[in-house]
Amino acid sequence: MEGISLLLVDLIHRPDEVSSTLPGVARKRIRIESGASGGEKHNSHNMEDAVGVLDGKVAIVTGAGKGIGQAEAVALAKEGASVMICDYADYSETLGKLEEISGADKAAGMNCDVRKTAEVKAVVTEAVKRFGTVDILVNNAQKLSMPHDFEDWTEEEMREQWESGPLGTWLFMQNCLPYMKESGGRIINTSSSAGYAGYPGYSCYGAAKEAIRSITRSAAKEWGKYNITVNSISPAALTSGAAGAMDEEAKTQLVAAFALGRWGDPDNDIARVVVFLAGPDSSFMTGNTVCVDGGLAMLV
Ligand SMILES: NC(=O)c1ccc[n+]([C@@H]2O[C@H](COP(=O)([O-])OP(=O)(O)OC[C@H]3O[C@@H](n4cnc5c(N)ncnc54)[C@H](O)[C@@H]3O)[C@@H](O)[C@H]2O)c1
Repeated sequence: MEGISLLLVDLIHRPDEVSSTLPGVARKRIRIESGASGGEKHNSHNMEDAVGVLDGKVAIVTGAGKGIGQAEAVALAKEGASVMICDYADYSETLGKLEEISGADKAAGMNCDVRKTAEVKAVVTEAVKRFGTVDILVNNAQKLSMPHDFEDWTEEEMREQWESGPLGTWLFMQNCLPYMKESGGRIINTSSSAGYAGYPGYSCYGAAKEAIRSITRSAAKEWGKYNITVNSISPAALTSGAAGAMDEEAKTQLVAAFALGRWGDPDNDIARVVVFLAGPDSSFMTGNTVCVDGGLAMLV
């Protein structure tokens, strides 16, 4: 721990270049500079860092209107993928970013509530119509709610957790499968330490997130024969969604719990791991939960 602190201090005071160990940018140099996570210094990736590792691939990202989903969509586009985004809220900001990166012919967006079968099918159908197939599916959408005591969660909230999380994830996976069967695929689902670490107040959200890990493992076993890998990430980033689902005290307490002493940054910390899981460097990884949480929960 002392070693990590010293390293961070060193990097903060000496914003040099260090060798990247991140996949997709191996043997390249990345710069340590100011970022959005509480003014901390961390890895920053620019367009020049992209190496086109996903050229020719087609990706769908759910819940991409903001937050981690937006960062994931942008990172996949920077690596060359055609990206279809969807959200039940406004997604125009993300779509604008994608069009700027890769042009209107490689970017598309649709309104979609992932709880609704017909809307999920429409997104997959449109992605195939526009871009030819689906190679990468990032299931990111989930309703984030303020934590409350077990007995105060309502049945309606519990249903929303399950439907926006595992149901939506499962629906997208089922509907993308026919295309991925043809030439393999990459599925990246989104879990949470709130599930496997059992944080108080998150009984419904945590249960939904654990179900997503279970779906991930089952599909990984069943679909390995099609060369489809299925993993989940367990992220930690102070997005507007996460900030809205926590009081100030919880935010402060959590920072102290990160081994790296800071929240993650959606673009620089989280989305690069999704690029790795979507690309060729992760070809022998499936059924995993990849913690991208600065050492918050340390799943064993
Ligand atoms: N931020 C964190 O620290 C953290 C930690 C663990 C897990 N996660 C997970 O990461 C993912 C992204 O989190 P975030 O912090 O960016 O959240 P966010 O609230 O900022 O963004 C979530 C996006 O999903 C969309 N969405 C929600 N329900 C939807 C539905 N039914 N249909 C379509 N779109 C829907 C929202 O409109 C929003 O754009 C979520 O799955 C979340 O559970 C986040």
